[in-house]
Amino acid sequence: MPDQERSTASRVFHRHLHQVPPKAVSASGVFIRDASGKEYIDASGGAAVSCLGHGHRDVISAMHAQIDRLAYAHTSFFTSEPAEALAAQLIRTAPAGMSHAYFVSGGSEAVEAALKMARQYFVEIGQPQRAHFVARRQSYHGNTLGALAVGGNEWRRREFRPLLIDVKHVAPCYPYREQREGETPEAYGRRLADELDRAIVELGADKVIAFVAETIGGATAGVLVPVPGYFKAVREVCDRHGVLLILDEVMCGMGRSGTLHACEQEDVVPDLMTFAKGLGGGYQPIGATLAQQRIVDAMSAGSGFFQHGHTYLGHPVACAAALAVQHVIEREGLLAQVRERGASFGAMLRERLDEHPHVGDVRGRGLFWGVELVADRASKAPFDPKPKLHARIKREAMARGLLVYPMGGTVDGQRGDHVLIAPPFIATEDQLATIAERLHQTVDAAIATV
Ligand SMILES: Cc1ncc(COP(=O)(O)O)c(C=O)c1O
Repeated sequence: MPDQERSTASRVFHRHLHQVPPKAVSASGVFIRDASGKEYIDASGGAAVSCLGHGHRDVISAMHAQIDRLAYAHTSFFTSEPAEALAAQLIRTAPAGMSHAYFVSGGSEAVEAALKMARQYFVEIGQPQRAHFVARRQSYHGNTLGALAVGGNEWRRREFRPLLIDVKHVAPCYPYREQREGETPEAYGRRLADELDRAIVELGADKVIAFVAETIGGATAGVLVPVPGYFKAVREVCDRHGVLLILDEVMCGMGRSGTLHACEQEDVVPDLMTFAKGLGGGYQPIGATLAQQRIVDAMSAGSGFFQHGHTYLGHPVACAAALAVQHVIEREGLLAQVRERGASFGAMLRERLDEHPHVGDVRGRGLFWGVELVADRASKAPFDPKPKLHARIKREAMARGLLVYPMGGTVDGQRGDHVLIAPPFIATEDQLATIAERLHQTVDAAIATV
């Protein structure tokens, strides 16, 4: 490359090496603007991150105040006021029995911490033979090697398979494709829990550490809402075998589904749970793993030390930002708003897309929605994966000033396309209507090109 060209080319190792994305320069509320002045309505908060939208003054002020006081202190020497306050807040609002929060810098790290906590718990209580995880196909738990191993996203895993720990995968809860004709939702959930039961028994019930699942499936299959009773049946199976239940709420948690935790609506309490995206709302990179008292007690009575750690654990500015985000959600009653606006947004999506010849399913809860696209509604046949419909949707959406989160491999990691929509909790009814309308236009325009 000539010197002059080299000096102007991007030196960022971008996600795709053949294209440099537009440069984001400013954002406020539900809008984000690029360097050309183009404005986008952020209907997915990146990847279900920006729950308060952009530029919220309270969060920014809390970050400024924290930076002025203390930007960083390593957790092997110090704790900090924002970490203590955020942990207290998360435990106060957590499912029953959760006693401590472990702060990391994102979702994958939160999942890694949960996997290692679960393993170490069994070592501490004298069951070191427990060495296996069971998880689900069509799931996503992150891109670090442990999280990728439990995840069930085939195209993300394929190249790295030789590096991944061996994890047994069972079926996701995917009623649109896998609930049988004439089967009730309850019977379907029971059938899935029975499959989990068999998988645990096959591995040896005393050899399994935990079952790992997203409470509402997110990025891989496009918002899979569990059928009633499924997670209760899963909880019973785990309890019967002394296996821990790890719920990954990195994407679906912290209010996205209309309750602070998605598992509240399933009436189950996990042993460990993970959050990230909506925890800090994108203002800072932060994730958390919450642990039940008995897990913490076992480590406390045993080695007294969690054999883990990162340099940026409990980062004070990240904790201050997350605390401010959580205070805004509480003070402004945003969970109720997510339920109300989510219901009307779902109705808007259905009104525009339910009868569309290439929309197979519109599904979701709160402000977390997925639209699955099909070549043929009757047979549910997906589009040919080669033209990458999902990538075309992203392009057409951006051309229309709309940010959504489309993905391929919905059905089995290779075939299928969906669009994930996760608007900020502060989106108005008018903005939600604009999103539904632009999405409809986008779907039509993208499909016309394949
Ligand atoms: C359910 C779930 N777990 C874990 C992760 C990984 O989080 P991160 O990208 O912050 O590492 C994601 C990201 O999309 C997710 O959706």
